[in-house]
Amino acid sequence: MSRPIVVIGSSNTDMIVQLDRIPAPGETVLGGRFSTAPGGKGANQAVAAARAGGQVVFVARVGADSFGDQAIAGFTADGIDTRFIVRDETTASGVACIFVDRNGQNSIAVASGANMRLTPSDLHAAEGVIADAAVVLMQLEIPLETVDVAVDMAAAHGVPVILNPAPAQPLQDDLLRKIAILTPNEIEAGMLTGIRVTDEASAKKAELALCGRGVAMVVVTLGDRGSLLCGRDQIISIPAFPVKAVDTTAAGDVFNGALAVCLAEGQSIHDAVRFASAAAAISVTRLGAQPSAPTRPEIERFLLK
Ligand code: RIB
Repeated sequence: MSRPIVVIGSSNTDMIVQLDRIPAPGETVLGGRFSTAPGGKGANQAVAAARAGGQVVFVARVGADSFGDQAIAGFTADGIDTRFIVRDETTASGVACIFVDRNGQNSIAVASGANMRLTPSDLHAAEGVIADAAVVLMQLEIPLETVDVAVDMAAAHGVPVILNPAPAQPLQDDLLRKIAILTPNEIEAGMLTGIRVTDEASAKKAELALCGRGVAMVVVTLGDRGSLLCGRDQIISIPAFPVKAVDTTAAGDVFNGALAVCLAEGQSIHDAVRFASAAAAISVTRLGAQPSAPTRPEIERFLLK
């Protein structure tokens, strides 16, 4: 049996309003369409990895409320191991309010709730599965202290960590040095390096700066301009697949989940990024975070086109 992918991170319920354009501060825009969907960067990555063919264990904290019940039911339907999802009796499940405009671009506000109560002690219960994992995948919608402890735990067991540094926040070199693959978008790469990333040249500079700080490999995702992969001795640009975007929410999450699956399977980083780009391209053609994550057969068919 293959070794699991352990995803440690957030779970939210997304409240989505699709509008012609995103309101400016103080402005009211009418004409929106409302829907809800399961979301949260950690949960989206766990679901994306499971649908892409991974054996996934999700470590998270949700409230003892109906949103938490629905989230866990969804993970179970996707075949995810939910044994290490803690129910928090005192704090509500995470919620995100998302505006999506006519071009599929979004703006997100998160009430983290129980996600910010995922503690290092919750991780200790999962140490056995972390030790046995092919890869650990994390983001930054849980306390940084918990991310630090998880990275140390994975390192102690020789398990590689993929860190998607989203949402953007500064990180210490001591943490970066223990990351096998860092996957920032332009904004996150800018926040981590102080370099304004606007194109491939500035993305390269940011990647080299991050590799200089000790990250083994960096993949900067540049949306419809593809991604840039930087390892010890190479920088490779991998083009995006052209599609018509309906909603870009969770495209990065789907990319990370699919990337983790390929690495767990021992595929080359180049093939892994191409597979992950295809998964992300499919996801932006659909509304919602988890509803947009494609299955393995869908990704394989897309790659054959
Ligand atoms: O990356 C997209 C996700 O960010 C959404 O699902 C929302 O819940 C926020 O966490």
